[in-house]
Amino acid sequence: MKKIIALVLALVMVAACMTACGAKGATLKDVQKAGKLLIATSPDFPPFESLEGDAVVGIEPDIMKLICDKLGVEAEFVQMDFDSVLIGIQAAKYDCAMSGITVNPDRQKNMLFTDPYYNAAQVIVVAEGSPITGKADLADKVVSVQTGTTAESGCQDEGIKVQAFAANADAKAALTTGKVDAWVVDNLTAIQMVEEGDGLVILEEKMTEEPYAFAFAMGSEDLVAAINDALAELVADGTVESIFAAHGEAYVKP
Ligand code: ARG
Repeated sequence: MKKIIALVLALVMVAACMTACGAKGATLKDVQKAGKLLIATSPDFPPFESLEGDAVVGIEPDIMKLICDKLGVEAEFVQMDFDSVLIGIQAAKYDCAMSGITVNPDRQKNMLFTDPYYNAAQVIVVAEGSPITGKADLADKVVSVQTGTTAESGCQDEGIKVQAFAANADAKAALTTGKVDAWVVDNLTAIQMVEEGDGLVILEEKMTEEPYAFAFAMGSEDLVAAINDALAELVADGTVESIFAAHGEAYVKP
């Protein structure tokens, strides 16, 4: 009898911990009841998301608004630094995270992802005339990255010294002002942020290739499934491709 009581108690404790210890992501029902999808984003990442006045604009808000239309809810964007997007979604403070987020096995341990919708790459940006011509030349150099990104973890994994900045623009500025030797950032963002007159060049050799998806807290499985259906429709009927084109980029399906 004592053993049975102990077993029941243990099970109750495990169950209690499973509900209390892990923050739980919104379900499709929660979101539809609220009438809106609360989306965390770091709008310093053109062409995927940037600010126009107070409005979050770009490829991802365009896609997200159409997904929300299909779910019958409003898209509400909340702005913050990139690392806060990842921390916030894991804590289920928001329903969804939208920030050109790379899917990788490490992140998949702590959050859910939609199907990847785009194949991106990390590129190396250097000052014109720099002796750095590829990844191998970064070994004894200092590279600027945005905090919490795969650029940061990827460089660290390769033993490359990094200086991390909360804002993407500051990672670029570190290079233009000569404080670092190179800047590692996602390919389309590099193309859109490097302007004529900056004196910067994007190297041919890529650091990595990586897929983008939208992220959710654990527990949002049915919401992710619904969003995957909506996303698949938008890819299949050419909408996603035309959104990329409207932002001046070619669509690369993963
Ligand atoms: N793709 C990279 C990552 O997931 C960088 C994303 C940065 N996004 C942004 N909105 N600043 O780590």
